Amino acid sequence: MCGIVAYIGPREAYPIILKGLKRLEYRGYDSSGVALLNHTGLNVYKKKGKVAELEESLVGKNLHANAGIGHTRWATHGEPSDRNAHPHQSANGKLAMIHNGIIENYAQLKTELQKKGYVFKSDTDTEVLLNFIEDIQKNNHCGLEEAVRIALKRVVGAYVIVLLDQDNPDTLIAARKGSPLVIGVGKGEHFLASDASPIIEYTKEVVYVNDYELAILKPDELILKNLGNEKITPFIQKLDLELAAIEKGGYDHFMLKEIFEQPDTIFDCLRGRLDINNASITMAGVQNNIEQMMHAKRIIMVACGTSWHAGLIAEYVFEELCRIPVEVEYASEFRYRNPVIHQGDVIIAISQSGETADTMVAIERAKEQGAFIFGVVNVVGSSIARISNAGAYTHAGPEIGVASTKAFTAQLAVLTMIALKIAKEKKTISEERYVHLLNELNNIPEKVREVLLLNEQIKKLAIKYKDSKDALYLGRGYNFPVALEGALKLKEISYIHAEGYPAAEMKHGPIALVDDQLPVVFVATKDSYHEKIISNIQEIKARKGKVIAVISQGDDAIPKMADDSMAVPEADELVAPLLSVIPLQLLAYHIGVAKGCDVDKPRNLAKSVTVE
Ligand code: F6R
Repeated sequence: MCGIVAYIGPREAYPIILKGLKRLEYRGYDSSGVALLNHTGLNVYKKKGKVAELEESLVGKNLHANAGIGHTRWATHGEPSDRNAHPHQSANGKLAMIHNGIIENYAQLKTELQKKGYVFKSDTDTEVLLNFIEDIQKNNHCGLEEAVRIALKRVVGAYVIVLLDQDNPDTLIAARKGSPLVIGVGKGEHFLASDASPIIEYTKEVVYVNDYELAILKPDELILKNLGNEKITPFIQKLDLELAAIEKGGYDHFMLKEIFEQPDTIFDCLRGRLDINNASITMAGVQNNIEQMMHAKRIIMVACGTSWHAGLIAEYVFEELCRIPVEVEYASEFRYRNPVIHQGDVIIAISQSGETADTMVAIERAKEQGAFIFGVVNVVGSSIARISNAGAYTHAGPEIGVASTKAFTAQLAVLTMIALKIAKEKKTISEERYVHLLNELNNIPEKVREVLLLNEQIKKLAIKYKDSKDALYLGRGYNFPVALEGALKLKEISYIHAEGYPAAEMKHGPIALVDDQLPVVFVATKDSYHEKIISNIQEIKARKGKVIAVISQGDDAIPKMADDSMAVPEADELVAPLLSVIPLQLLAYHIGVAKGCDVDKPRNLAKSVTVE
């Protein structure tokens, strides 16, 4: 949530910051702003709306500066508006600050400051923290670094902050707790951002800042300290990321590009792990902890949103293959529920961004209680990856579209491999079934390529159904969570109300919604529930509902009943979700486009939910 970028060095700061903000817009896009520092002083420009609107408003302005900070916002405190946009300026006008996170005790700090005569121009918690810092500077007669350190000791909440100080134009000060922050180390210059995407064009050397660390950046110096004012040696890492991976590459939208990347991303995820010739799976994170994992009394999947849906599918896979009881928890509920956690429990935390605040805190709590944390994460070096005891990256590459697509299928591929590896060690799977499933998984990338050929057909379907007010998504077994995921994709991309349900559960309530206007999307590939789901389709048709079905190629029964069918290659039911979800991603995408929605940046959403 919220994207931050900053630069200090010999180049013009504004173009670097503007480009960076565009790359980070997936994190929030209700308003944006920049603060630029040059010999005339500190200039702050802010605008409600997308970064392009800020850019337009700055045409013709003198934007020369060698130090600057920029922000793209996802509102928490205060509606999206010019005055609530970041950067904020302190009361004396000398400091400018950007912030990603939430200051939970801001109300108390605000009251204290108001009593001292501070007047606030915005409704944000950020302006409160900034003036709190200014006030400490004034009272303690100290420099900015010291004031920030003192302030942060009193702050409750999560933050990344970056400050510019008019009196110290060659220094940027940044700090982090609970929100991501990456420093790019160039030659005589430094970059700061919420993720590496604004940085890779200029340098591949990066430092990931940890919680409770303070960074003092000058063009040719980087000092890291903890809040106790002790120096920490920065750990410089080489980024393994190419610029092309974060550009649209000829597609109209990142979401479409990412849907179409799936044959390659799933392949990348399997590559070097799944060895068909030797019938083996190599995953160091699992292998090194195999005793812990195979003897787990219970596995708890902890995640949010689409990643939670991946966890639900994994529940079916792990229980069937490994015979270990699995629970799937919404991280936001799990963290507050005082859950019972035993020493032998294994928590699998699933997250694309690796920064989701609820998932992060949930696993921190579980770790404190003795659980073993295994992270299934996409973003390398992210907070969840770092706090986990062990893990496996999904290797889907940067996912920029706000709606998760390729990260979901990569999560399924990784989770299935983990389950297969444990099952093999535990001997809860026969050799024949193990080899069969390895082959099925290995064939998925090519089958996904085939599913993508449905694109034009689905585009036409989208036109037919785009004006629907509601939709119901139904599936059974492995395809039930796929129905949930299809409904979530439609909701977030097209703003059509959609609900996912287990197909048999429909009779216990949702069937009341069915009339001749309601599209009902069945995820009905050939599996052990096939006959049952055919009965459910008939129940909908008997009530004149419109049936759109994802079916297996060669199924000639369902097309006779359904209004529209999308046929995917046959696959073992355990890996079928990797195929059946793709027509649903495409359907949501094309309906969103047909309705004129901003599919890459749906309203109110943000890619990385770093606030609870
Ligand atoms: C939906 C979507 C969200 C995320 C959720 C968790 O398309 O993208 O529901 O899945 O916010 O995010 P991560 O996986 O980054 O923890």
